[in-house]
Amino acid sequence: MTRILILTDYRGTFYSTARTRHGLCTMDLDRITTHFSEAGLRPEVVRFVDLDLTEDLSGVPVLYTSSEDEGLHYKSWIEDLVLALETRGAWVIPGYRYLRAHHNKVMMEALRAQLFPRAARRLGTRTFGTFEELAATVLDGSWPKVLKSAHGAGSQFVARAGDHHELLRTARTLSRTHDRREAAREHGRRLLRRDHHARSLHRQKFLVQAMIPGLAGDFKVLRLGERYYTLYRRNRAGDFRASGSGDFDFHDMAGVDRDALLDYAEQVSDALGTPLTSMDIAHDGTAFHLIEFQCLHFGTVTAENSTGYHVRRDGGWGYVEETCDIEAVFCEAIVGHLRQHRPTPLGPSPAAPVPTRSATPLPSTY
Ligand SMILES: Nc1ncnc2c1ncn2[C@@H]1O[C@H](COP(=O)(O)OP(=O)(O)OP(=O)(O)O)[C@@H](O)[C@H]1O
Ligand SMILES: [Mg+2]
Repeated sequence: MTRILILTDYRGTFYSTARTRHGLCTMDLDRITTHFSEAGLRPEVVRFVDLDLTEDLSGVPVLYTSSEDEGLHYKSWIEDLVLALETRGAWVIPGYRYLRAHHNKVMMEALRAQLFPRAARRLGTRTFGTFEELAATVLDGSWPKVLKSAHGAGSQFVARAGDHHELLRTARTLSRTHDRREAAREHGRRLLRRDHHARSLHRQKFLVQAMIPGLAGDFKVLRLGERYYTLYRRNRAGDFRASGSGDFDFHDMAGVDRDALLDYAEQVSDALGTPLTSMDIAHDGTAFHLIEFQCLHFGTVTAENSTGYHVRRDGGWGYVEETCDIEAVFCEAIVGHLRQHRPTPLGPSPAAPVPTRSATPLPSTY
């Protein structure tokens, strides 16, 4: 039987769900292991801290949780371990680059630039490691622009800048890293040392991109295996931001063709090649825009509170009414992914890591 490793954090949690169990927001691991066993797999739940990196895990599928802890300290440890596993040939799902892009808009934009170059050029996203780098840059394109800190969810640290002056003012605040001691030491050096090259006190990475005009909201589309769930989020009142507004609608399509939205979501998620994808998609009246994507540990309200899911059927789209059992849907997506990439799961483990679905750029229209 094929082993599958499930790595959990220090609280024993794995991913998140819309419900809480014993005060923890986690998927139910008992149900996950039952589903995997029924599918003929041999699940093993292991905490990151108990992971044995000397073990040969070549070709072994590994699912792992991520973290959104303040400062991303714990997440950086998870990144070390997952990268080590992937380097050694374990089949980490999703690949390390998507973990790196979780809760990290700068990395997400870097992946977008490679996977969807045309869309990336349209937004003209520039990323910065320090405020000073922005201050020394002449930005192309029209105003207003959108400024985003690498971390932050629910539109926290996402701001509009009407002109260059406003952009610098907001970016300065957003990128601030120093405490009083660091600032005092650095200002002292700047005063006393003639040959001192100033060190930045603003090193929280961030990005600047074009503002897509005229959006009244965006769509959250979750693709879990073959199931697609959609939700429309209206902007907050008098604001350009939809995420975090809490104003959801499972049926309103805001005049957008649902099949076209699903076609677009399919193309984006196919290109990402992961079994689980969360996408924020906007439509400007003419074209779709990918605002954001995540491939693990994302919010599941769109699926869990839905009345059913969309599925590709005879070249079009069908709708199946169903109360979402999130653990069952999660496991089905993973099992489908394993089957697709390794059709004989009981055969010997391949010597080399099995790549996730090929990450190919979208057709040139995107
Ligand atoms: N380039 C853009 N042009 C216009 N509106 C944008 C743009 N980028 C983001 N928005 C709006 O701002 C909202 C928040 O942006 P984004 O999704 O990137 O960050 P977030 O909500 O903080 O992240 P998360 O979805 O992880 O909570 C989006 O829902 C969208 O309404
Ligand atoms: Mg978002």
